[in-house]
Amino acid sequence: MQQHQGNDCLRCHAPLAEQKALMALERGWPNAPASPPPSWVPPELHRQGLVCAACHVRRHERFGPKARVAPPEGTRLPHGGFTEEAAFSDSRFCSPCHQFAPDGRQVNGKLLENTYAEWRASRHAREGRQCQSCHMPDRRHLWRGIHDRDMVRTALHRELSVTRVDAGRIRVTAVLANRDAGHYLPTYVVPKLFVNLVLRGPGTRMLVGQHVVGRTLDVGLEREMADTRLAPDGRKEISFEIAAGPGKWEAILATEVAPGEHYERMFADMRQRNPGLDEATRALLDEALAKAVGARYYLEEVRVAVPESPGAASRAVAN
Ligand code: HEC
Ligand code: HEC
Ligand code: HEC
Ligand code: HEC
Repeated sequence: MQQHQGNDCLRCHAPLAEQKALMALERGWPNAPASPPPSWVPPELHRQGLVCAACHVRRHERFGPKARVAPPEGTRLPHGGFTEEAAFSDSRFCSPCHQFAPDGRQVNGKLLENTYAEWRASRHAREGRQCQSCHMPDRRHLWRGIHDRDMVRTALHRELSVTRVDAGRIRVTAVLANRDAGHYLPTYVVPKLFVNLVLRGPGTRMLVGQHVVGRTLDVGLEREMADTRLAPDGRKEISFEIAAGPGKWEAILATEVAPGEHYERMFADMRQRNPGLDEATRALLDEALAKAVGARYYLEEVRVAVPESPGAASRAVAN
């Protein structure tokens, strides 16, 4: 990338001026400073991404949330103490990097990043639950999201019910709901959740239904193919009749989470479109692709034994 394009990414990924300077020097960009930053700046700082100072230091002064307990009078605090700033405990603290401005990039009339606005319009904002409440519980710097199985499984309500219509047919109903994500589930265009409905019976196992939860764009981020994300407290019901004769049948709802689905397609496309790439770049792309694919995981299955007498129903719920 050229410097102006690169700086646009660094704004969120490595925002300190010192990081930009080191990056410009390494890349030989035109606006690189004449000399490297002072000796207290680690020479690898630009490779560390979002570091403590990006959120906690301005003009060599430390900032942080209101102290939980005021230190006793006269205590000597590390680095001379810090300045309390209420902003740290507010959702707006996160929005510069997780919300595009109204004139930011849009596809199909919708911003590519709209997390703060989604949250603002939700029950969670009305109830005073900030981004930090879910992503930094007890002020721990966890930032767990779509890559974390526990976060996703508790946020996604899944329900499966089966009714026997007659001796030869059953009705299968699956319900998916965003129970506890403070924004769309998922909020970005990158992740996808693949929900598969499987029917297992005497000697067979077949895929009878499939639903994708996510906002799917083409790799060039120009066209929206689908937007089936679940709004906060939103739900999606899928119901259909299917043949299932006598014998023991089981309906199974299997959910695969692909946290980097968009990148999987994007990296593969870049690789294919640029046969002349140098060895190092190709290796990096392959590594990134393998990492994105490797981040996929499954949630626990929801299983229901199909009832044998007509009119009877059974149901199972996860969350
Ligand atoms: C407005 C802030 C912002 C800007 C500008 C930005 N990003 Fe990001 N980027 C993010 C956030 C937030 C995530 C995490 C999203 C997620 O996990 O769903 C992310 C994730 C990524 C990832 C995936 C990282 C991983 O390990 O999965 C890559 C790669 C990436 N960005 C590259 C870029 C590039 C290249 C640019 C410049 C063209 C850029 N970003 C500009 C905020 C930004
Ligand atoms: C993305 C921004 C961000 C980064 C990066 C970050 N912090 Fe924080 N930090 C916060 C926010 C926001 C809070 C307050 C959370 C709250 O009020 O719920 C906080 C709180 C704190 C607190 C107060 C904890 C308490 O119990 O009162 C300390 C200490 C702290 N951070 C140190 C660090 C250190 C050290 C690093 C690097 C290893 C770091 N932070 C990286 C955003 C950040
Ligand atoms: C300076 C920009 C910046 C700020 C401020 C910031 N983030 Fe992020 N955040 C990022 C970037 C960049 C990533 C992606 C890092 C990567 O994947 O390499 C990220 C990743 C995340 C993820 C992980 C997403 C995933 O893939 O699962 C969560 C959750 C998150 N941020 C929440 C928050 C919250 C909550 C706050 C406010 C307390 C906050 N962020 C403040 C830039 C920022
Ligand atoms: C009520 C709890 C809750 C609140 C409030 C909340 N989140 Fe999340 N967030 C989640 C859960 C659960 C997930 C995992 C499921 C998902 O990806 O939507 C998540 C996922 C994410 C991700 C991962 C990427 C993605 O595509 O989903 C990011 C980034 C994020 N949240 C940022 C934020 C920001 C910024 C705010 C505040 C504006 C916020 N969250 C408020 C619960 C919450």
